[in-house]
Amino acid sequence: MAAEKSKILIIGGTGYIGKFIVEASAKLGHPTFALVRESAISDPVKGKLIENFKSLGVALIFGDLYDHESLVKAIKQVDVVISTVGQLQIADQVKIIAAIKEAGNVKRFLPSEFGTDVDRAHVVEPVKSTFAIKSQIRRAIEAEGIPYTFVSANAFSGYFLPTLCQLGVTAPPRDKVTIFGDGNPRAVFNDEHDIGTYTIRTIDDPRTLNKILYIKPPRNALGINELVAIWEKLIGKTLEKKYVSEEQLLKDIQESPLPMNIILAIHHSAFVIGDLDNFVIEPSFGVEASELYPDVEYTTVEDYLKQFV
Ligand SMILES: NC(=O)c1ccc[n+]([C@@H]2O[C@H](COP(=O)([O-])OP(=O)(O)OC[C@H]3O[C@@H](n4cnc5c(N)ncnc54)[C@H](OP(=O)(O)O)[C@@H]3O)[C@@H](O)[C@H]2O)c1
Repeated sequence: MAAEKSKILIIGGTGYIGKFIVEASAKLGHPTFALVRESAISDPVKGKLIENFKSLGVALIFGDLYDHESLVKAIKQVDVVISTVGQLQIADQVKIIAAIKEAGNVKRFLPSEFGTDVDRAHVVEPVKSTFAIKSQIRRAIEAEGIPYTFVSANAFSGYFLPTLCQLGVTAPPRDKVTIFGDGNPRAVFNDEHDIGTYTIRTIDDPRTLNKILYIKPPRNALGINELVAIWEKLIGKTLEKKYVSEEQLLKDIQESPLPMNIILAIHHSAFVIGDLDNFVIEPSFGVEASELYPDVEYTTVEDYLKQFV
């Protein structure tokens, strides 16, 4: 008989990526708990999400990152904790770490990561210091001896593909594109549903214990030139390309206001430096999701882009 599936608590389930992880957890048959703030219930958009959670059989637990007792009480009911809290709460995940220590029953903790491997990135400010906070959370988890998986989900498709990585547009371009650098370093784009599925598949998998899980399915690792070529093939048209030098981009990052400087620094890291693909995943620290779970039929970038043709 198959072992029972771990009980999972998601903190931040009403957030952008959190909702996909809650859904995947419930759909893959894990007893699923979502810690939600009472304020979310009365919010029209979040309230709908929560109704959907309920219809999937998700148990709601009211609580708050800043209410220690509520965290401990919620954590004691489960085996695994996944945090998908947003950028502003990343540092305060020390509160989750403290609650996990007190509860004493957690088999695995996945902190809010879901992007670049922050220990291997060469990103510039203002993003450098935010990545450093994620690294500090990793070190705190390791120091406390909490079993973990760090999920490096790379670029969310929904953030980058609807604009073909272009700034200031609302649809993929049909006449010209701007490409930072030479367009060759590979980035990785993942559909949010797949990020949810791969994340949940790791939960009871000993191969991902105390490892970084990289979500890097081969067909989705693409340089911007390759990405543009896929789009050109889909629309049957060649686009005019404007290349912006790294030097110019670095200058623009320094001169742009928030949040444009953040966006540009992320583009620089992912598409010019190639931070999502410029290291080898060594078995000592990491594993790749599509290799571990070849049965997951992930959405390719090409299929994702078809919806915009
Ligand atoms: N790879 C990429 O392309 C990419 C893109 C974006 C984000 N990310 C990463 O993904 C992770 C999640 O970011 P996101 O944008 O999905 O987050 P988000 O949409 O900002 O959601 C934040 C979540 O945290 C919850 N939360 C906030 N304060 C809380 C509190 N005091 N107590 C309990 N819950 C609280 C929010 O609840 P309410 O609904 O009640 O506010 C919400 O569910 C981050 O690590 C971020 O860096 C990666």
